[in-house]
Amino acid sequence: MSGSSHTSLAVHDDGLAVITLDRQGSSANLLSSGVLDEIEGHLNALDKRSGVSGLVFVSAKSGIFIAGADLTEFAAGLDQSDEEVQRVSQRGQQLLGRLATCGYVTVAAIDGICVGGGAELAVWCDRRILTTSSKTQFGFPEVKLGLFPGWGGTARTPRMIGLSNAVELVTGGESVGAHEAAKLGLAEDLVSDAEGLIDAARRMVAAESDSGDYLADRKAWSDPITIDPTELGFLGATASAYIQGQTGGHYPAPLAALELMLEASQVDLEAACEMESQRFAPLFGSPVNRSLLNVFFLQDRAKKTDVGSRQSPDESSEHWQHARRVSVIGAGIMGQGIAAANVKRGIAVSMSDMREESLLAGISGVVREASYNKQTKSVDAELAIERSALVDAALSDAELGWADIVIEAVVENLEVKHQLFERLERHLGERTILCSNTSTIPISQLAEGLAHPDRFCGLHFFNPVRKMPLVEVIRGKRTSEATIAAMAYYARRLGKTPVIVNDGPGFLVNRLLLPYMNEAALLVSEGVPIKDVERAAKDFGMPMGPITLYDVVGLDTCLHAGGVMLEAFPDRVVPATIVERLVEAGRLGQKNGRGFFDYPSAKPGKPPKGVPSDEAAKLIDEDRRRAEVDAPIVDRLMLPMLLEATRAVEDGVAADVRDVDLALILGIGFPPHKGGLFHWADTIGAAAILERLKPLEPLGERFRPTALLTQVAADGGKFYDLSHSTGGEKETIL
Ligand code: NAI
Repeated sequence: MSGSSHTSLAVHDDGLAVITLDRQGSSANLLSSGVLDEIEGHLNALDKRSGVSGLVFVSAKSGIFIAGADLTEFAAGLDQSDEEVQRVSQRGQQLLGRLATCGYVTVAAIDGICVGGGAELAVWCDRRILTTSSKTQFGFPEVKLGLFPGWGGTARTPRMIGLSNAVELVTGGESVGAHEAAKLGLAEDLVSDAEGLIDAARRMVAAESDSGDYLADRKAWSDPITIDPTELGFLGATASAYIQGQTGGHYPAPLAALELMLEASQVDLEAACEMESQRFAPLFGSPVNRSLLNVFFLQDRAKKTDVGSRQSPDESSEHWQHARRVSVIGAGIMGQGIAAANVKRGIAVSMSDMREESLLAGISGVVREASYNKQTKSVDAELAIERSALVDAALSDAELGWADIVIEAVVENLEVKHQLFERLERHLGERTILCSNTSTIPISQLAEGLAHPDRFCGLHFFNPVRKMPLVEVIRGKRTSEATIAAMAYYARRLGKTPVIVNDGPGFLVNRLLLPYMNEAALLVSEGVPIKDVERAAKDFGMPMGPITLYDVVGLDTCLHAGGVMLEAFPDRVVPATIVERLVEAGRLGQKNGRGFFDYPSAKPGKPPKGVPSDEAAKLIDEDRRRAEVDAPIVDRLMLPMLLEATRAVEDGVAADVRDVDLALILGIGFPPHKGGLFHWADTIGAAAILERLKPLEPLGERFRPTALLTQVAADGGKFYDLSHSTGGEKETIL
């Protein structure tokens, strides 16, 4: 047996060679250049031997075959020339291509995640065996990083599983489980667990060596693909329309992959690989690729427990890992969502509400949501029975206090919340943490009067909780670090991404969202057509226009939140009075079918569709403001958000620009292809942003360059230079 640092080669007496992937110092196998070198060395060694009947790839890692290429290496090579990138792609193709030309049968024996470069290695093998473990996933997620497979994946896969299947797999970027993979033709055999893989591979090698079928497939998979031209045209038209609909034109990789695969289907494998590496090069290092890589690293960083909290949760982790009971007070929209998120993770919840009928409706809402089956689009009765055992109604404060975590989600009123805390606190256990889901009330203000403010913090979920992955963990003046660390840990347990922020008006996300929305409403009052404002935001990549967002959130809620910002920052907030006018006219948004738009025919199960409203138009006319500047709409919308973000960093509300970027991507759907707000600003450059602010100067304080922006521009640096890397390895998916 020969070994290197990440892989080892063993040749058994019967001629079966096994390469075991076991990357040192990591829980995941990655195809770094070092690992590729090692594989090359093993293949060279096997070429020199006689009597090798087959080669099997297996992983020594639990639940991971190969998690992709090494993205840290990718990130380091982003500035390479197209020629250099093409050479890296060709090197991968040539090396992995040896698995389809060598003098023995090659088999990928896969347990766990097999994606990106790992899936490319597997499709170059003659055969694949997968375990049916729920962890086994096979796929090409490269499009999620603005790329497509560049080591022969786009050339080899359609020849194996058919062009249409391969197009779906590569352009969609979603992985499939073992059974689906077998159905597609990506797996020739399935076994129940990793222990059975080598025996199954040995049998497969013997059978293939006898039949020689793999040789016939090697020949067939080297040729152009036989497909009727009409069928090819139809596939191209339908897939491209679908991709356009999904990407809104902001993500070029899926369409590029589609075009490549259609054209390359008509040439032989070698020419298809040549086309792949040529077209891969311009995508690599493109702005979208850089942005999406940044988002990947932001998410990777957020998984680390030491990010944002000044104390690791380790000292309390024993307790928090076993925290089993949570109380939720207030069984409204948010209370139900929060409770259901707990139940889905097997955490028992006691709920309460001041109104009995709200409590009963709330509990059935929680059970319904926690047992909803996405596939059948209905409640799963078995699951409902199982999960209903995890929710109960707390009939006294003492019952509520008997929990590890108590989350308050009652009406947004300081007085009501204070009274509740006062009543409740004496019933709380010695370690119980009390949290508020308030969206606007300062945490330190809520903590006034508490006997244990150290065990109190904000835990701000977003609506709807089931869909929104972000939770702001808000540190009040007297919140302890142990509380913050424990709540960040708890948010991760719920499958959410915590971003830790300091207390301040609107915390982080709403503080940055409101200037953007307010500016949109001001533009409308200046006479800019609503559709132009909406279009500018959507062209930028926002998931919906800001005016529609007003209607979705509710104009009364926005008015209240706007009031909080005005009170906090009277020097720069110019209230958009149109919002108040609409509320006074009873136009509250989608919730009552009338806002900036009218919602005449809400269809069940469909998002309400707004149509222009005469009444709103009249109110906008009456609210008319003088247009003071003539500047691009997108600058009016996005620059106030950026300036506010620089202020939030200056104030210490956000500790790191990367927290801001991740929070906005997850909290308001800031476009991932822009990489985050500060990442986007860095691609433009601070000096250029100062230039873009000049024509907006007459609008006053809210457009005045901040000290941080001016400093970054003066240094000729980037906002990202301000952030401190947490280091560590990057587990990757490519
Ligand atoms: P909601 O009005 O749907 O539910 C509030 C529930 O609390 C009602 O069922 C009410 O009967 C109950 N309640 C009121 N006072 C109570 C008391 N003293 N004791 C027990 N129950 C009481 O409100 P929603 O939307 O769920 O909001 C709850 C909290 O979450 C608020 O602080 C809000 O600012 C915050 N929030 C709301 C978001 C949203 O989009 N709705 C998003 C994020 C935070």
